[in-house]
Amino acid sequence: MIFLKTDEEVELMRQSNILLSKMYAEVAKYIQPGVTTARLDQIAEEYIRDNGGIPACKGYDDFPNALCTSVNEQIVHGIPSDRVVLKDGDIITLDSSICLNGFHSDSAYTFPVGNVAEATLRLMRTTKEALYKGIEQAVTGHRLGDIGSAIQSYCEKAGYGVIREFVGHGIGRDMHEDPEVCNYGRRGNGIVLKSGMTMAIEPMISMGRRHILIEDDGWTARTIDRKPTAHYEHSVCVRNGKADILSTFDYIQEVLGDRFI
Ligand code: MF3
Ligand code: CO
Repeated sequence: MIFLKTDEEVELMRQSNILLSKMYAEVAKYIQPGVTTARLDQIAEEYIRDNGGIPACKGYDDFPNALCTSVNEQIVHGIPSDRVVLKDGDIITLDSSICLNGFHSDSAYTFPVGNVAEATLRLMRTTKEALYKGIEQAVTGHRLGDIGSAIQSYCEKAGYGVIREFVGHGIGRDMHEDPEVCNYGRRGNGIVLKSGMTMAIEPMISMGRRHILIEDDGWTARTIDRKPTAHYEHSVCVRNGKADILSTFDYIQEVLGDRFI
């Protein structure tokens, strides 16, 4: 069942998403060669709690941490560890959710670590652009398939693989609500979008083939061919004429400066 949000509820969701966005900016200050993903998680959890939020990933289906940290060929749901030390040329996706005032936020961002290969930067750029292509479709009267179709065609044209096993989702009082928001699909297919629908749109795109496996920890998803993947996510509210993006990358941009892509 899809829950349409009132304007007041949307504003609460925006507050939750702004806190999440600021948390990423704080963690971004520490992303450099030599840092462990466990340390990044610790910074994230402290920031969330200090600001009155609840780290919603921690304990969700027994996920152990506040932050998902997925490095290079890892797509999503990487578990922070003091044995994972970032090195020059890596990319790392941070993905997390906060519950604030009863409402969840969700966004994700793939960061460069030191000097990243041009081909990988292109993957990151294309994935972020695909996110915005999808968001453009999240307006009243369009259909769910328009979002997936826009993302898929943009990324496949660039020669990349679109991960199918993980999808975006409705979001609100629960982290995952209906509907599922696929990153592939056909224009004109699926339900009609209505004002007040809130959803997380989150393309996960691979430089190589789209096929995945789950590592032995039971959580971490990676590409079978071990080619790198990027993942950018915003929470949005469907509106008449223009999607309302509830999360923001502006705080991340302030920290990354000219390394922001
Ligand atoms: N943004 C992630 C998702 O929608 C958050 C996952 S939290 C976890 O899947 F606990 F499931 F890892
Ligand atoms: Co999500």
